[in-house]
Amino acid sequence: MKTNWPTVLAGLIWGLCATAGCVAKTQAQSLPGGSGAAAVSAAAAAVRVTGWTAPPHALVLTTTEGIVSIRAVSDHVLRVRASREVTGKDFSWAVVAGANRPKGTLTVKDTGSALLADTSDVHVRIEKNPLRIAFLDKADRVISEDAPGRPLSLGPRGFRVERTMPDDEHYYGLGDKAGPLDRREMAFTNWNTDAYAWQESTDPLYKSIPFFLAMRHGRAHGIFLDNTWRSWFDFGKTARDAYAFGADGGELDYYFIDGPAPKAVLERYADLTGKTPLPPLWSLGYQQCRYSYFPEARVYQVAKTFRDSKIPADVIYLDIDYQKDNRPFTIDRQRFPHFEQMIKDLGRQGFKVIAITDLHLAKPAEPGYKPYDEGAAANSFVHNADGSVYVGKVWPGASVFPDFTWAPARAWWGTLYADFVGMGVAGFWNDMNEPSIFDVPSKTMPLDVVHRVDAGGTATHREIHNVFGMQNSRATYDGLLKLQPDRRPVVLTRATYAGGQRFAASWTGDNTSTWNHYRLSVPTLLNLGLSGYPLVGDDIGGFRKSPPPDLLTRWFELGSFNPIFRDHSEKGTLDQEPWVHGPKHEAIRRRFIEARYRLLPYIYTLAEEAARTGLPLMRPVWLEAPEAEAFYTNDRVFMFGADLLVEPKLDETVDPDEPSAPAGVWYDYWTGQRWTGAKKKTPTALDEMPVLVRGGAIIPHQPLVQSTSETPKGPLELRVYPGADCRGSLYLDDGASFKYQKGEFLRLGFSCQQDGEAGKSISVKTNAAEGSFTPWFQSLAVVVHGAPSAPKQVTAGGEPSRNFRYDKAKKTVTVT
Ligand code: GLC
Repeated sequence: MKTNWPTVLAGLIWGLCATAGCVAKTQAQSLPGGSGAAAVSAAAAAVRVTGWTAPPHALVLTTTEGIVSIRAVSDHVLRVRASREVTGKDFSWAVVAGANRPKGTLTVKDTGSALLADTSDVHVRIEKNPLRIAFLDKADRVISEDAPGRPLSLGPRGFRVERTMPDDEHYYGLGDKAGPLDRREMAFTNWNTDAYAWQESTDPLYKSIPFFLAMRHGRAHGIFLDNTWRSWFDFGKTARDAYAFGADGGELDYYFIDGPAPKAVLERYADLTGKTPLPPLWSLGYQQCRYSYFPEARVYQVAKTFRDSKIPADVIYLDIDYQKDNRPFTIDRQRFPHFEQMIKDLGRQGFKVIAITDLHLAKPAEPGYKPYDEGAAANSFVHNADGSVYVGKVWPGASVFPDFTWAPARAWWGTLYADFVGMGVAGFWNDMNEPSIFDVPSKTMPLDVVHRVDAGGTATHREIHNVFGMQNSRATYDGLLKLQPDRRPVVLTRATYAGGQRFAASWTGDNTSTWNHYRLSVPTLLNLGLSGYPLVGDDIGGFRKSPPPDLLTRWFELGSFNPIFRDHSEKGTLDQEPWVHGPKHEAIRRRFIEARYRLLPYIYTLAEEAARTGLPLMRPVWLEAPEAEAFYTNDRVFMFGADLLVEPKLDETVDPDEPSAPAGVWYDYWTGQRWTGAKKKTPTALDEMPVLVRGGAIIPHQPLVQSTSETPKGPLELRVYPGADCRGSLYLDDGASFKYQKGEFLRLGFSCQQDGEAGKSISVKTNAAEGSFTPWFQSLAVVVHGAPSAPKQVTAGGEPSRNFRYDKAKKTVTVT
């Protein structure tokens, strides 16, 4: 659809101004994944190819140890499956239905000792004895290959793959694993775990996303291991020249995803496992949480303080204490006698409420707790191996667990939200869904617990554990969508598996109020984004303990450039809202929250890009500049979208030779001035956090509002930072419904061009608008930065205009 917008927004013309070697090891040592993985090595023999067939799109190998197949999902994505037995089942919790249907063309040639299977983009070389698979580019340069001398192991319980690890390759992804951005020299286990008080070296954590992206000299590829059992990845912790991965059970089923651009790898991974749906605008505003705000007078007081002190905010959370005896889907009427009225009142003040609904349902001694009674009557709960219903202790005491991997139980769970949705609760928080069980050493269900599954039949907890939380959030998302088909559901989950981004945003669990956790939030959130999970945040200020004032202030600064911006803290800690610690800190925190609200048009545009492409909002610098190798191991700075480079202040001394930004033109976001690249000699003041803007960016801003329910008053401001490849975009819609899918949105692209000798003039243009949505703004203010002097001539909408201002100190021209 097209809307009539002036294509030339502003034309500005100036006069004459210019503008190591392998460490020997036993196989058992190479397996960080635990006993099951060790069993692989004990029993495994090298796999030898004995025959092959090549139906269209696939190469099927018969081997001494089982069947191995290689399918061309596309010309860039190859799927490798191997199992001792032919299971016949091809089922995935992660992959979007049909997304792995082979569509690429494979041409196969037998050279005697090897098979060569080519798509138009990737060549696959399969050595037969022992089986060794290599992926090569079109020029037959190896991208990724099984390590020589370390053949594939297919054991009776699990498998192991070892691949060559070049000295200069770097690894990213694997979800919420703590530690440095680059996973090299680290080993990890995937087993969803309630990791209260986790620290930098704690593993496993809450999520299992067995996908990683490898970068080498600007070239990227990815590997996604679609296996829900306990799995492990060892990026050279054990060996120096090989990385390895495997699982305790299930099929070897992995996808090799070619780039060469890292963004192409992420987009192809998102095509397979799905994209995060476009969130409502309000969920990108500031969110205030605590364990717990109660009674209702306290909730009103928190809301009022935000509005009285003019600190913008959109969301208040209710943690488990709003419930009667911590029972999900109940209300403690002593603490919240007017719950329904409270939700309405908060709504009138521009607040949305997100309420926690954990997945464990109390098993009461007496009937009358509807979720339990209904679920028990419909036999919706998970069972023990002996057929009895499994009972585990969590917040409400003895609890039962819906069979989330079974569609009928998911559908029923979704209906439990009807009352709260009816009351106007806007979003829901699925916590403890690893699942967490108290007072047992394993912290979770017994491994032989039986789950009914969508593919038919049952599976034990060994296989289901890592997807249980994801299926819990799926049931919530689908249920909310059914209850309100034209509202975008908001779900926050703690545990998940690959593909879980389709159902919920997520946070990094119970972090601690330390400088180290503040610092860790950067690599952790970046790696989540690189794992296909764009809508993420951490507990701003830290969950455990209480942050000193400077730390909380710094964390607010950083959080204002995170995809989800939510302050949360544990019971028994000091208050952690923006106004604690006095007016000096309050003023700084307010200023950063305000900056986020002004930047919302840009942030929402990024969220729409994520929904369309799978690209994260928070990005390592090299995702935008793949050749900038100096940033491959930098987990201190990050890009927020393609145009803003954020450099949160850390309490360590920064290497003076380390570049702050890749080569090119950059501007200071706060002052709009050209950035000289000079490092500051003095420590950055507490109220400053360096943010740079790419020369060539055009960034939309809106007038300040106190919440997204308020309509901004005034023009949309386009901040233009002249430079090469000058462009920007804006996506807008009603921020809440699905009408955008029927064309009710507005998409505008902007560009700028410097003409004449040494940029004597600059013109800023918009392309034809797409979509039928009428935006809140009626006019545009174009702010051109880096203007050396007042322009001689200005046009707006093609007509000469005097409606402009030149600010000499800031070197900006504003045309309205
Ligand atoms: C878990 C969550 C935390 C929440 C608490 C009480 O520890 O991680 O965010 O506040 O449970 O529900």
